[in-house]
Amino acid sequence: MTTSARQAAERIAALRSEIDAHNYRYYVLDEPTIPDAEYDRLFNELKALEAEHPELITPESPTQRVGGAALSAFGEVRHEVPMLSLGNAFAEEDLREFDRRVREGLADQLPAGDLFGGGAEVEYSCEPKLDGLAVSLLYENGVLVRGATRGDGSTGEDISANVRTVRNIPLKLQGSGWPARLEVRGEVFMSKAGFEQMNARQLESGGKTFANPRNAAAGSLRQLDPRVTASRPLEFCAYGIGLVEGELPGTHYDILQALKGWGLPISRELKLARGVEECLAYYRNIGERRQSLAYEIDGVVFKVNSLAWQRELGFRAREPRWAIAHKFPASEELTELLDVEFQVGRTGAVTPVARLRPVQVAGVTVSNATLHNMDEVARLGLMIGDTVIVRRAGDVIPQVMAVVLERRPADARPVRIPEHCPVCGSQVERTQLVRRSKSGRANVSEGAVYRCVGRLSCAAQLKQSIIHFVSRRAMDIEGLGDKIVEQLVDSGLVSSPADLYSLSYEQVVALEGFADLSTRNLLASIEASRTPSLARFIYALGIPDVGEETAKVLARSLGSLARIQQALPEVLTYLPDIGAEVAYEIRNFFDDGHNRSVIARLLEHIRLQDEGEVHAEFAASVSLGDFLARLEIPFIAATGAQKLADKAGSLEGVIALSQDWLELSQLKGLNEKARQSLREFFAAPANVARARAIERQLLDFGMHWSCEKRVVEGLPLAGQTWVLTGTLEAMSRDQAKARLEGLGAKVAGSVSAKTACVVAGPGAGSKLAKAGELGIRILDEEQFLALLAEHGLGV
Ligand code: IVH
Repeated sequence: MTTSARQAAERIAALRSEIDAHNYRYYVLDEPTIPDAEYDRLFNELKALEAEHPELITPESPTQRVGGAALSAFGEVRHEVPMLSLGNAFAEEDLREFDRRVREGLADQLPAGDLFGGGAEVEYSCEPKLDGLAVSLLYENGVLVRGATRGDGSTGEDISANVRTVRNIPLKLQGSGWPARLEVRGEVFMSKAGFEQMNARQLESGGKTFANPRNAAAGSLRQLDPRVTASRPLEFCAYGIGLVEGELPGTHYDILQALKGWGLPISRELKLARGVEECLAYYRNIGERRQSLAYEIDGVVFKVNSLAWQRELGFRAREPRWAIAHKFPASEELTELLDVEFQVGRTGAVTPVARLRPVQVAGVTVSNATLHNMDEVARLGLMIGDTVIVRRAGDVIPQVMAVVLERRPADARPVRIPEHCPVCGSQVERTQLVRRSKSGRANVSEGAVYRCVGRLSCAAQLKQSIIHFVSRRAMDIEGLGDKIVEQLVDSGLVSSPADLYSLSYEQVVALEGFADLSTRNLLASIEASRTPSLARFIYALGIPDVGEETAKVLARSLGSLARIQQALPEVLTYLPDIGAEVAYEIRNFFDDGHNRSVIARLLEHIRLQDEGEVHAEFAASVSLGDFLARLEIPFIAATGAQKLADKAGSLEGVIALSQDWLELSQLKGLNEKARQSLREFFAAPANVARARAIERQLLDFGMHWSCEKRVVEGLPLAGQTWVLTGTLEAMSRDQAKARLEGLGAKVAGSVSAKTACVVAGPGAGSKLAKAGELGIRILDEEQFLALLAEHGLGV
C-alpha cells in the first residue's frame, strides 16, 4: 500500500467511526451533539474518499446504509419496501447536474435532444423538505394498523401507539377507492409555534427542553409512553408511498392528491415544475418564504413526477435516481466561544454576550450572540474556549444552542459575572424576582438578572435611556441617532434627558460631523418634541415593563401625569392589562427620588398635550364589592365580598361591621372562617390604613363607586340594568361588561322585571327563556356589537 492509500484508509476508518457515533446519538438517542451541517461535511468527506478509493468501500460503511439501529424497547418492523434516503444538492449547479443525469437516464423516453444536449424537459413534483422524522403508516382496508420509524431503512421501530396520538393522522381513511394495503410515508414534525409553546411548558414544569423542533419531534414520537407523545404538538405530512396492493394513479403528484382525498395531510406547497429552471424558481421562492413558514424546512425535494420514469431510472445504493433534496444553507454551525463580555442595558441589566470565532451561518457571518442572562449560561454549561452550536433563524439574533462537550479544551475557563460594572465601575447586584399576588403581597426569590446600580451616572445606562427617550415611538426626535447620543454623553454635554432641551447652537456645531445646517435641523427637531402626548411621554420615560401599549393604557385611563405619578399600585391594577408586578414597577419608578427630579426638570421644558379626566369606562367600573375582593382578605372571594358590600354599603360600613360580632354573625353567605378572617383583617390598623388610602385615591380620581352616579349621568345607558348570557365570540364576558358599564349600564347576573335588555350569545339557556317570558328586549351578538359601534365602542 502506498503512503497516500494508507493515509486514506486511516482517515476513512476514523470518519466511519465518528459518523457511526453521531448516527447513534442522532437516530437512537435523539441527542445529536453536532449540527447537521457538520455531519454532512464528515459524510461528504467520507463519500469523496470512497469515490477515490472504491476498493475501500465495505457494506458496513455509513455511506452504504441509512444509519441508526432500532431501539430495543420498541418492537421491530421490517420495511417490505425499504425506506430510502435522498441525495443532496447544495448549489444550483448540483441541481442542474441532477437534471442532466435524469434526462440522460430517460434518453429513450424523451424526445430527441438537440445539438447542445438539450431536449424535452422533465416534469418534477416539488415539495418542501420538512425537518422532522420519517414515518411509515400502514393502512389495511382503510384502517391504520401500524406506524413505524425509518430506523436503518430496512428495519424500523413499531410506534403504532404513538402515531395514533398525532392529531392529523387519520385512523381510518375517508372516501373510497384506496388500495387494500397502502403504506403512506411522510414526516412527523413540530411547528415552530408548537415547539416554542412546548419548550415553555417544559421549562415551567422543570422538564427537559429541546434545542430545535426536529429534536423535539423525534424525542416526542419515540416515547415509550404514548400519553407523553399525545401531549406534544406533533403533526404529520405525507410525501409518498411504500408498499401498495391495489391501484394508484400514475404520477407522484396525482398520488399525493389521492392521499389528500383520503384524508391524509399533504404539503400546501406541493407544485409541479417543468424543467430544472422552474425547479430553481420554486427553490428560490420557498427560500424567500422560509422564515415565515409555520414549520422548519431544510430544503426542497424534487421528484420525477411520472412513476413509469421513476421505475426506469431506478436506484443507486440507498438513493433514488429520480429524486433529490435541494438544501438551504445550514442554519446551525459549530464555532468557538472566544470570550464572554458583558453589556449594560437601559435598565442596568448586565447581559453576557458571546464573542465567537466568526462563522458563516445561513449565509451571514456571525461573531456575536446574546446569552440572555447568567441562568442561560449555567443552563448551557458554557465555558470560554468551548466549541458551541450557533443557530440563526431568519432575522432572529443568533443564539448559542448547546456546547459540544467532547471538544472542550483542557484550558477552558468558567464564565463569571463581574463584580463591578464594566462601564462605570459601580457595584453589580443580583436582582430579586418579586412575584406578587393580586393584592401585591410579594414573594421574593433570586432573579436571573444582574444589574449595575449606577443608574444614569453609568454612561451605558444613560446612553441607552436617551436613545430610548428620543426614539421614534417615544419623543420622536428626528436626527438624534445613536452615534450622536454617544457623542453628547461622552462630551459631558448631556447627563440626563432633560439636558437635551438646553443644548445650544455652539455646543452642537462643535460636535464631530456637525455643520450649520445639521445643527439647526437637530435643534429644530428637539424643539418640535416639546409638546408630546401623555402616552408618548410615559413611554419615553423607560419605566421597566411599561411598553407602548401599557403607556397608552395609563394615559388613556388616568388622563394626567400627576395621577399616574401618584397612583397606588392597587389602583393601577384596576386598569386593563396591568397586573400587580407591572403596577409595582410603575410605583417604584415614581417613588425614586432621582427619577422624580429628572421628570421635574423635563417638565420645565415640556408641555403635555392632552391631559384630561379619568376615562369614564374605568371610572364606572369600580364597585365596592370588587374593591373588597381585591383587598385579598383570606377566605373572602368575589361572592362574599359582594354580600358584604350589599350589606354595608361603604368601606367605613364594612370596617364597622367587621368589628361588630353580633351584626356580622347575622350576615348570610359568610361562613365562620370568613367572618373570623374579616374581623382580624380590619383589626389590623395597617390594613385599615391601606384600604382607606386606596379608597381615598379612587375618590380623588373619580373612580369611586359613590362617584358612579356623577360619572354615569348623561351616559346613553344610564339607569339601565343589562344581563349577559351565553357565549360571545367577539369578546369576553368581562370585556362586554366593561363596555356596557362604560355606557352607563349596570350589569346584573340574573333577569328580573327590572332588566332593561338581555344580550344572548349561543348556549344561552334559562335567562334567555325568562327574558322571553317577561317580554324583555333581547339582542343577539351582532345586534349588540352594532349597538356598541353606534356609541363608538368597538371590539
Ligand atoms: S422523499 C425516496 N420528500 O428527508 C424518497 N423526503 O433523506 C424518500 N423528508 O428522512 C424521501 N421531507 O423523512 C421526501 N417532501 C419530502 C420530504 C422528505 C422531508 C425527509 C425524509 C427523509 C429525508 C430524506
